[in-house]
Amino acid sequence: MCGIIGYIGTNENTEEIIINNLKKLEYRGYDSSGICLFDNDKFYVHKSLGEIKNLNKNLNYEIKSHCGIAHTRWATHGKVSINNTHPHLSFDKEWCIVHNGIIENHLDLKNELLEKNIKLYGDTDTEVVPNILSIQKGTILQAITKTIKKLDGSFAFCILNKKSKDTLFLARKNSPLYVAKNKDEVLASSDPVCFGEKFEYYYSMPEKTICVAKKDELTFYDFELNIIKVKKTKVSVFEKSATKGNYNYFAEKEIDEIPYVINNIIKSYSATNYFKKIDCNFLQSVNNIKLIGCGTAYHACLMGAKYIQEKTNIECSAYIASEFRYSNPHIDKNTICIFCSQSGETADTLLCLQLAKQKKAKIISLVNVPYSSIAKQSNILLPLCAGMEIAVISTKAYNAMLFVFYMLSLHMQSVLKQKKIKVTKKLKRLSKANFFFNANYIDDISNIILKSEKVFFIGKGEDYISALEAGLKLKEITYINCVSLPSGELKHGTLSLVDNKSIVFVIATKKELLSKNLASASEIKSRGGNIILVTNLSIDETSLKDIDFVYYFDKTVEECSSMLCIVPFQLLAVKTCLKLGYSPDKPRNLAKSVTVE
Ligand code: F6R
Repeated sequence: MCGIIGYIGTNENTEEIIINNLKKLEYRGYDSSGICLFDNDKFYVHKSLGEIKNLNKNLNYEIKSHCGIAHTRWATHGKVSINNTHPHLSFDKEWCIVHNGIIENHLDLKNELLEKNIKLYGDTDTEVVPNILSIQKGTILQAITKTIKKLDGSFAFCILNKKSKDTLFLARKNSPLYVAKNKDEVLASSDPVCFGEKFEYYYSMPEKTICVAKKDELTFYDFELNIIKVKKTKVSVFEKSATKGNYNYFAEKEIDEIPYVINNIIKSYSATNYFKKIDCNFLQSVNNIKLIGCGTAYHACLMGAKYIQEKTNIECSAYIASEFRYSNPHIDKNTICIFCSQSGETADTLLCLQLAKQKKAKIISLVNVPYSSIAKQSNILLPLCAGMEIAVISTKAYNAMLFVFYMLSLHMQSVLKQKKIKVTKKLKRLSKANFFFNANYIDDISNIILKSEKVFFIGKGEDYISALEAGLKLKEITYINCVSLPSGELKHGTLSLVDNKSIVFVIATKKELLSKNLASASEIKSRGGNIILVTNLSIDETSLKDIDFVYYFDKTVEECSSMLCIVPFQLLAVKTCLKLGYSPDKPRNLAKSVTVE
């Protein structure tokens, strides 16, 4: 959560460079934003509420600075207000900082400052930091190390000090921070996506490190102030792919990219054997598999657990990461824990991974962002190959998760049965499927949603998981309250909500479960509810008597129907959101990368 930028260079358009890069981090939070430009021994701080475009409007372009820091906020401590917006200054105006992470002991530190009569103006956890820096004795670096050693929790900081012109101090613990250097400029950022345009290489700051950045030099230290060497990483296509192209919204572009993502996965996995380490040895004596993630990634885990259990006969269960750690999970060396995350930075998932490692489980991770913390800490990484996903709603990454889980299940099956399973043909057929079949009906269906008072999504088995994901997509960006549940569960309580102002989406992709789904549809119809059946099955007319509308999606590869049936719901959520005048890229109260517990 939150995005931070630091910049030093010779360019006089420092504020423009900083703001343009800050906008690339807006997916991390957009409650408010702020910038500090360092010029002529003065800090010029400017803040505004809401999206970064508001900050842009009021900037004073007269200031000719070569150095500055900036922040886009996703509020955790303290309401959305100018006082709580970063950058934060120390009481004596000597230090200015931006922060990503959470200082867990900020209340104790606040009391320490109050005892020294130092009062704070806002309610953030961050504001204690510049003030603690200001009361330290010694050099600037000593003040920084003494301060960060006092902090519990997580942080990535960009720090300015008045006495050290044109120097940027960076520090990180448990929150990512990256820095890149050209001949005469340095850019620090919470995400290497900012380096795609101008830089060839960047440095991923290792855990518990400090960097002193001048426009032509970077020096890295550990927290004991020993100089350390950090390897540089080449900027890849992944970091360069964060543009909207001709689309108005990233969400629209990312849904359109789904067929390309499936092809990309097939290509990448054909070129590199990512499953190599998952061999007989690895699977020997495994007696249970746990799949862990949050939100959409958790839904992918539910689906993955079904795929893997069906193909391997090993007991598989999916868990919500924020619950898993507190459930006293039974994990040992005979457990495989599979972590699933688009960003690879989700704090709850990352903490579960660390717990599973301690308990000696075998670890596999499905991650999209290749340089993320989860990717780095996993023994076996299965990349999602979906390219940058910027919109806060996860769309193409979900399809990629399902597809990689499916390939993993087939791979495990072939290892356990010790026979080669020909999968390529089936996978290739899926890559040629029409993901957008009948998409022209989406507009009418979204009008029906807008006229309804209540929205339900129901299904059985895999289709219930699709119902969960369809509901999450709709509520996330349209703010319409909706309910997802297993078809069979309706009559155990929720059916009492159904009336003639209700629209119920019945998802049915499995022949053997169709009659049960249609029975649930009849129960809904008898209570006046309107029904849209979403299916790829051929159904005779007489069985459809209680259905108001059938949305058929592409029949290709029945076994992979869950990967196809979610697409109309992703399109439907975006369409409805746009009709309501909201942004599908930036839903209120949310951020793309949830790096706090
Ligand atoms: C929903 C959504 C979230 C994420 C969740 C996990 O559209 O985007 O529910 O799926 O926050 O994020 P990752 O996959 O980055 O761990």
